[in-house]
Amino acid sequence: MEKPDLLNALKSKRILVTGGTGSFGHQIIRELLNYDPESIHVYSRDEKKQYDMAMSYRGNGLLRFNIGDVRDFDRTREAMRGVDIVFNAAALKQVPNCEYAPFEAVKTNIVGANNVRRAAIEAGVQTVISISTDKAVKPVNVMGMTKAIQERIMLDPTYSSDQTKFLCVRYGNVLGSRGSVVPLFFDFIQKKLPLPITHPDMTRFQLTLKEAVQLVLWATVKGESGDLWVQKMPAARIPELGRALAYGLTGKKDYPINIIGMRPGEKMHEVLVSEEEMWRAAELENHYLIPSWAKSQNKEGLQNVNISEYSSAGTHQLTQDEILKMLEMDGWFGPNAKAKAAHGIEISEE
Ligand SMILES: NC(=O)c1ccc[n+]([C@@H]2O[C@H](COP(=O)([O-])OP(=O)(O)OC[C@H]3O[C@@H](n4cnc5c(N)ncnc54)[C@H](OP(=O)(O)O)[C@@H]3O)[C@@H](O)[C@H]2O)c1
Repeated sequence: MEKPDLLNALKSKRILVTGGTGSFGHQIIRELLNYDPESIHVYSRDEKKQYDMAMSYRGNGLLRFNIGDVRDFDRTREAMRGVDIVFNAAALKQVPNCEYAPFEAVKTNIVGANNVRRAAIEAGVQTVISISTDKAVKPVNVMGMTKAIQERIMLDPTYSSDQTKFLCVRYGNVLGSRGSVVPLFFDFIQKKLPLPITHPDMTRFQLTLKEAVQLVLWATVKGESGDLWVQKMPAARIPELGRALAYGLTGKKDYPINIIGMRPGEKMHEVLVSEEEMWRAAELENHYLIPSWAKSQNKEGLQNVNISEYSSAGTHQLTQDEILKMLEMDGWFGPNAKAKAAHGIEISEE
């Protein structure tokens, strides 16, 4: 994505990020600051996370912090007053939490999304981009089911507005994001414990937070209302991921693993574009576009793809070297090891 395109889309804009204190929120805000927005508004519930973020941006006059909950329509609409672009990243995203408290997931991921949509229309927002996940495709767990409905709500053609365009972006596991497997493995390795692996053949799509943000910005510039964008990405077998992290941190090639069995609501492989969606998807060099129904019916400018579902078992499987490079670039070890600081832990180099 060229800088002028992004400047054109983001310069002088008032931008609100729901879930702005989360992993995605932090990264997109860092990136947005490069494109001269008029202001960036963080919208989330916990004041401690907002306080810490405000401290880290002390002296930067562009950031505004709004305490609020997407479950609360009035507050969400108030936070969107005067806003041009909304990135909707507020979510309950941990599979086990959503299994234990399904209706909490309904309230945040479904009712909250509906509030974001209604509030954006009422506040006259120009563009809303909502972040979705591979777990929303053929969902088997509550988190995925609620994110699937979130997509439908965001792209609902029957409740739309000429003024506000709505887009979704779907991607797989973000390497090292809060609550993901890399920080978990990192802690086990620090404690010299075997890595808990659910199943030796399990695969997951992998991308870095930077790549996730680039995809969202791409969709912001290129997308039309009703579009759902998916980026092509590699996958890794979970034991390979764990072993690569252990090798990078300890130098041991045969770090022990412990097979613990699959948990409720887990799939062996994830899917980013289902067979049922593929027939009307368009394939670009690095992306799939699942267009709105209206656009896919007239098919103009769309080129159908000829494969079955796009699954983490069928995409490029990262080699050990590629995983090592990805983890190093993401700062889990090597010269820029930010994970050390994030965890406040000294890594033993034995
Ligand atoms: N991480 C991944 O691997 C991954 C993969 C695919 C898609 N995604 C999607 O990307 C989005 C962002 O994920 P993330 O990794 O950044 O998650 P995260 O680190 O857990 O951040 C979630 C953010 O949402 C806020 N939030 C939660 N409930 C809220 C509510 N009811 N109202 C307002 N704010 C609320 C949280 O702050 P408070 O708790 O203070 O409110 C936090 O700022 C999610 O939609 C997720 O489904 C993530």
